[in-house]
Amino acid sequence: MPHVPSVLFVCLGNICRSPLAEAALRHEAERAGVEVIVDSAGTGSWHVGKGPDPRSCAEAARHGIDIRSYRARQVKTQDFNRFDHVIALDASNLADLRRIAPSDSEARLSLLLDLVPGLEGQDVADPYYGGPEGFETTWEQVTEAARNLAMQLKTGR
Ligand code: 4NP
Repeated sequence: MPHVPSVLFVCLGNICRSPLAEAALRHEAERAGVEVIVDSAGTGSWHVGKGPDPRSCAEAARHGIDIRSYRARQVKTQDFNRFDHVIALDASNLADLRRIAPSDSEARLSLLLDLVPGLEGQDVADPYYGGPEGFETTWEQVTEAARNLAMQLKTGR
């Protein structure tokens, strides 16, 4: 059996940005015809069990994707051995991940916008405290990253 690559997206609350990244990669992988296991989680626990922020649901719906059934969860130790790629939405999330990763972690930790030429090293800004346009920017950024990641996975890199 060929190995099916797996990707976990991680933000702070798992209700705004990482659910959109999850939705975008599911969508782009399907378009690219590549099989991938996708999930998302938060470093924080405040929103565990809750659905995505209504503004994220609305943004996904604008692109024909229903994410209302997603449920927030907190990242856990086993994630670092279950997922090939653990991808942080911002530098603070990445720092948290590096701190909690077990020493035997085999996951590749990275920053999401490193997947987008010209935006390397940048954060996907947290849209939680802003208006709906922040969610549109988040969608555009996670979609571009997801498209590039789907291509990388397809070509086996
Ligand atoms: P997310 O956004 O990390 O993109 O899910 C946030 C959602 C909630 C909070 C922070 C960020 N919060 O502090 O409750």
